[in-house]
Amino acid sequence: MAVRTQKFTMRSIVRVAFVLIAYSASRACARFSFNTKDLVLLVNDSTTLTLTLMGNVPGNTTLILSTNHKDLLTTNISKIEVTNSTGPNVWPVELFGQDAGHDLLKVDAYLSSIKSSDAFVRVTLQHSNELALVSAVVGWIYFGAWSISFYPQMYENWKRKSVVGLNFDFIALNLIGFMLYSMFNVGLWIPEVEKEYSARYPRGLNPVQLNDILFSIHAVFATLITVTQCYFYEKGDQQVSRTAKSIMSFYGLLITMLLVLVYLQNIVWLDFLYYCSYIKLTITLIKYIPQAVMNYKRKSTFGWSIGNIFLDFIGGLLSILQMIINAYNYNDWASVFGDPTKFGLGLLSVIFDILFFVQHYVFYRFKKT
Ligand SMILES: *[C@@H]1O[C@H](CO)[C@@H](O)[C@H](O)[C@H]1NC(C)=O
Ligand SMILES: *[C@@H]1O[C@H](CO)[C@@H](O)[C@H](O)[C@H]1NC(C)=O
Ligand SMILES: *[C@@H]1O[C@H](CO)[C@@H](O)[C@H](O)[C@H]1NC(C)=O
Ligand SMILES: *[C@@H]1O[C@H](CO)[C@@H](O)[C@H](O)[C@H]1NC(C)=O
Repeated sequence: MAVRTQKFTMRSIVRVAFVLIAYSASRACARFSFNTKDLVLLVNDSTTLTLTLMGNVPGNTTLILSTNHKDLLTTNISKIEVTNSTGPNVWPVELFGQDAGHDLLKVDAYLSSIKSSDAFVRVTLQHSNELALVSAVVGWIYFGAWSISFYPQMYENWKRKSVVGLNFDFIALNLIGFMLYSMFNVGLWIPEVEKEYSARYPRGLNPVQLNDILFSIHAVFATLITVTQCYFYEKGDQQVSRTAKSIMSFYGLLITMLLVLVYLQNIVWLDFLYYCSYIKLTITLIKYIPQAVMNYKRKSTFGWSIGNIFLDFIGGLLSILQMIINAYNYNDWASVFGDPTKFGLGLLSVIFDILFFVQHYVFYRFKKT
């Protein structure tokens, strides 16, 4: 009961704060902004932006320009005095790239009637434009390799009119994993959720790009076709194992609990989607295990497409290569070695691919059934 009351008090405080913010926003008579919100700058290079002040500013005020990392980005002006400004006022500001990385240039005004939330520029400082291009091309190639990787298995099933040798646990986990991943990607483009995202990270960039959405929806679609093949083609005594069913029920339970939390307003949809993406990561971690075990038990990889593994391997290697190129270009090695989800998972799937190569080309190479 005490907790409830406290929560209610918190809510009323938040509500009052909202009313105050709305009130002061309605009183705001001036706002300023840069001519761009995103900028790419080379190390040791400089560029000029313009800062525009719109509206009336009575009296004197000082605008403070600042960056988060002085060793990455500096400006030739750090403050601007404004006196009795009426109408648009424009200042050119010169930016210098000191070192590679990501930084934010922002402007603050110590006058509540000036709206400064739009006055920021996300700056990417890179060593080389060519490397950025190589990184983008590598990105498109692994996007292609991973997208095509679904088809060799489908083709093999179709040619044999059989799915014997293809592990159903793998297919089931893959389907759930890609559904969760699509939910995350599509979800972050829903305006409501985007609002939650920008409320939490006011100057952040939506992490989901269009090709992530295309890739994940296509992956669900392709996996569904494979599932359909499993219904219609010869399958022997294969079925989804009890272990996999328990794991999936556990995921189902987790997701239901998360939905309840959203319903009770303990978490917002953005949190829900992030938790779904973490569940997806655990699926990526385990999904190849049942297939590897099955190959081992059958002493054969017949029915399990090596073309799929080959494309997955190329995609995995290129995604790691891209991470390394970007780490150098943006001086961001922490994201490679400090983020186990991205680098570790890429590396893990490459290691599984190598295991499948060894099973296919070394251990069970003569088994044709
Ligand atoms: C930037 O300039 C400094 C000093 O002039 C130099 O030592 C450094 O190598 C340069 N960096 C790049 C990436 O050109
Ligand atoms: C405003 O700035 C001008 C010029 O810098 C100065 O002379 C004046 O005293 C300032 N007024 C106030 C109210 O700070
Ligand atoms: C700015 O406006 C104030 C009040 O209207 C006035 O007293 C002051 O002289 C003005 N300052 C300048 C520099 O125009
Ligand atoms: C800053 O750079 C801009 C653009 O080059 C220039 O117009 C402006 O005068 C500079 N300001 C200062 C204080 O050096």
